[in-house]
Amino acid sequence: MKIAILGTGYVGLSTGVCLGVIGHDVTCIDINEQKIKQLNRGISPIYEPELEKLLTENIDAGRLHFTTAHQKAIAESEVIIVAVGTPQGDDGAADLTYLHQAAKDIAANIKENTIVVIKSTVPIGTNDSIKALIEDLCGFPIKLVSNPEFLRQGSAIYDTLHAERIVIGSDQQDASEKICKMYEPFNVPIMITSIRSAEMIKYAANAFLATKISYINEMANLCEMVGANVEEVAMGMGKDHRIGSAFLQAGIGYGGSCFPKDVKALVHTAGKYGFDIPLLKETMKVNENQRVRLLKKALHRFRDVNGRKIVILGLAFKPETDDMREAPSITIAEGLIKLGAEVVAYDPVAADNARKIIGDKIKYAESIDEAVTGADAVMIVTEWKVFKELELKEMVTKMKHPIIFDGRNCYLEEKVRACKNIEYYPIGKPPIIQ
Ligand code: UDX
Repeated sequence: MKIAILGTGYVGLSTGVCLGVIGHDVTCIDINEQKIKQLNRGISPIYEPELEKLLTENIDAGRLHFTTAHQKAIAESEVIIVAVGTPQGDDGAADLTYLHQAAKDIAANIKENTIVVIKSTVPIGTNDSIKALIEDLCGFPIKLVSNPEFLRQGSAIYDTLHAERIVIGSDQQDASEKICKMYEPFNVPIMITSIRSAEMIKYAANAFLATKISYINEMANLCEMVGANVEEVAMGMGKDHRIGSAFLQAGIGYGGSCFPKDVKALVHTAGKYGFDIPLLKETMKVNENQRVRLLKKALHRFRDVNGRKIVILGLAFKPETDDMREAPSITIAEGLIKLGAEVVAYDPVAADNARKIIGDKIKYAESIDEAVTGADAVMIVTEWKVFKELELKEMVTKMKHPIIFDGRNCYLEEKVRACKNIEYYPIGKPPIIQ
């Protein structure tokens, strides 16, 4: 099938590459010329496992093309997938500027019977209004499908190739059938719903997962008070298949480009209907509190961190990505700076992106060793494998004070206890001081 994809962010790029893998002829469109040039040379603008390898393979096989010339690609395609960004606007609602531009570009070039697939996460009701806008501008009825995306950053390719479900929302049977056919070679469950339900599924799923994280974080905070271990509690809860063990990892709150934005957008949508939706408001509040958890622990331990060298290990919002959007590290770094600490950070891939947001108020080390030498304390903020696997025993000898605040519970008790001299403060578990 000849497919055009508008937008080469995480969603657009991963989808494009994976549709190439199953044999479709895919053209990815973006307005950024530099980005397109790089992509045509097989260089990905984002860090994502497997992406560059599949990018090169599919370009070489002639199944994947990149262009800024949207006119030709739109006019020649049977399916147009819209995967442009819908960032958060000032009032919590999604900003639809890019989506509206995409709709105008489509309307100006679309041929009859082409199917428009909206993959961007859009407020409930948007698919109908985009359909109406395109039809208004192009002058004939179009076919439109809402096809929300559930991939996770850091495993975008895996999630696309092994999706647990594909949701196709459409009120036009021929359109949903064709999109089912497009995805068929993935051999994953496909469900067809109304457009409204498809839009709602995406938000409801993300808000549920965010709430699950806030819930376990609150349990972790209570575990600390009563002397329980949140990992044992989560394991005991997760064995009940009605609860499930996924997304019960306590930490320093959820971040990234989806959960924070989508929960806010859903609260905003509910508000438009006069519905206060208090559960989700609490989910957000709990998350904000959780982000300052390590700061509170540090203040409790030191009373004052002014002039102390505090090291942040991990800046990205989660491992295997260089994405800094809504990363808890931003709140932590800025909080430490405000308290007068000297902050040194290390991340295997996200330092450049972090610098764009946090700036040079903190120092960026080139290695773990450089960062931790002479430190008063280390905060583990992202659970990168290199941090999980580091020799704690050796690391603490390089620090001025062997104090670790672990925001991601990276270490087994035995590993911590193997250090002769350490103060270890995890989340939701008793500290280890020896
Ligand atoms: C998420 C959804 O998982 C995905 O389905 C959707 O399409 C986009 O949003 P992503 O943002 O890439 O994906 O990351 P995810 O792995 O879900 O983690 C989100 C945040 O939650 C991270 O900050 C992570 O650290 C945090 N998290 C996740 C926890 O704190 N505890 C957990 O148990 C799981």
